[in-house]
Amino acid sequence: MNVYDGQRIAAMLEKHGLVQTDNVEDADIIILNTCAVRAKATDKVYSALGRIRRAKKDGALLGIVGCVARESGADAFKRIPELNFVLGPQSYHKLPEILKNPDTKLLNIDMSGLEKFDELPQMTKSPLVAYIPIQEGCNHCCTYCIVPYTRGRELSRPFKDVINDTINAAKTGAIEICFLGQNVNGYKYTDEKGKLYKLSDLIRETAKLPEIHRIRFTSSYPTEMSDDLIEIFGQEPKLLPFLNMPIQSGSPRILKKMNRPDDIDAYKAIVKKLKSVRPNIQISSDFIVGFPDENDEDFEQTLQIAREIKYINSYSFKYSPRPHTAAALMGNQISEQIKSVRLQRLDLQLNENQREFNTSCIEQEMVCLFEGNDKTGKHLVFRTPYMQQCIVDKPDYEITPLQKIKITDANKSCLRGEIIK
Ligand code: 5AD
Ligand code: SF4
Repeated sequence: MNVYDGQRIAAMLEKHGLVQTDNVEDADIIILNTCAVRAKATDKVYSALGRIRRAKKDGALLGIVGCVARESGADAFKRIPELNFVLGPQSYHKLPEILKNPDTKLLNIDMSGLEKFDELPQMTKSPLVAYIPIQEGCNHCCTYCIVPYTRGRELSRPFKDVINDTINAAKTGAIEICFLGQNVNGYKYTDEKGKLYKLSDLIRETAKLPEIHRIRFTSSYPTEMSDDLIEIFGQEPKLLPFLNMPIQSGSPRILKKMNRPDDIDAYKAIVKKLKSVRPNIQISSDFIVGFPDENDEDFEQTLQIAREIKYINSYSFKYSPRPHTAAALMGNQISEQIKSVRLQRLDLQLNENQREFNTSCIEQEMVCLFEGNDKTGKHLVFRTPYMQQCIVDKPDYEITPLQKIKITDANKSCLRGEIIK
């Protein structure tokens, strides 16, 4: 979501005649697009601001947008007096106001819902992978999560608006569409005639676009994985055989405290149904270790589910107490030391899964999407249909963005391959 927001901010400022620079010292305007999901992310913002305020040139505008802006509000100006603007995740479309009135302090952390989507100019050039948000906010109140506070209640964008964005992305260079939402598979929009549209409808409509070859979506909430959505994995070959469906913990006791779906058998049944319609599908998850009151037995259950589902491409985090969340006030907070040990053990398991899956890909042929050059300039980086990185030698001829690649080698973090001409 933040990558998307960053792209829209860049496009908006380019319309105002600005160009991007990687050099803080050169910049006329410096924007930190921020995440508040864990304390570490928020702390990084403030330490970066400390560095930037000394490095920036005189008169350059400095500001933060996104969830830290929403969380800090006017306090941010007190902490960093050099800040010129503080704009929340639903109000960054107001950014041009600071260009018009550079001598003011601009604060807007309103929860204006979907307004920004109407205000932002349409992209005139799309990256190969176009992120398309289909909903804003989240109505699930996981007790550890700050997102319902920073991004507000859940709103699904009108079906027509999403499809317009998708068509625009296809016409301006996108090959892959990634639908975004905090609870993306809960997308529901009823139009003025009373017709209900779901994520499966968006996928079906998008798949009709000849320019679009790959479709995916993130992040899914387990109990919103409806049958129509499961079935479309068996019907729509453009939908990648890869699904991010976070479980967070393998312990029903902890899941209850997290206010998450706690029926592990029901979760496994969804994976089984997905495999029955798309036998080659792979699942990824996010995990939190060291949630308040998590004991060794709870943690063993997390390791167990990670082994059993054989998750690939997963993310694991130490629980981080956040303001405005219920879990931060719970008793039996877990020590940093225990969290670190558990995270290490979980990561060993997740790496093992990844290595095993990557190795199983050797000798396979996959159509992969070009991502960029590697640092040496001698290789090209592609993404497989499972979002693994695949590195190939740079050929001496022009390539197209989609290439059939034969996988020749693998380790835990990436694949090697050869382009099949
Ligand atoms: N502490 C640690 N991880 C968190 N996440 C969300 N809130 C917290 C928190 N307070 C993780 C969840 C979520 C991902 C985006 O971030 O795993 O799926
Ligand atoms: Fe946060 Fe995701 Fe839970 Fe929503 S579903 S509260 S975004 S972890």
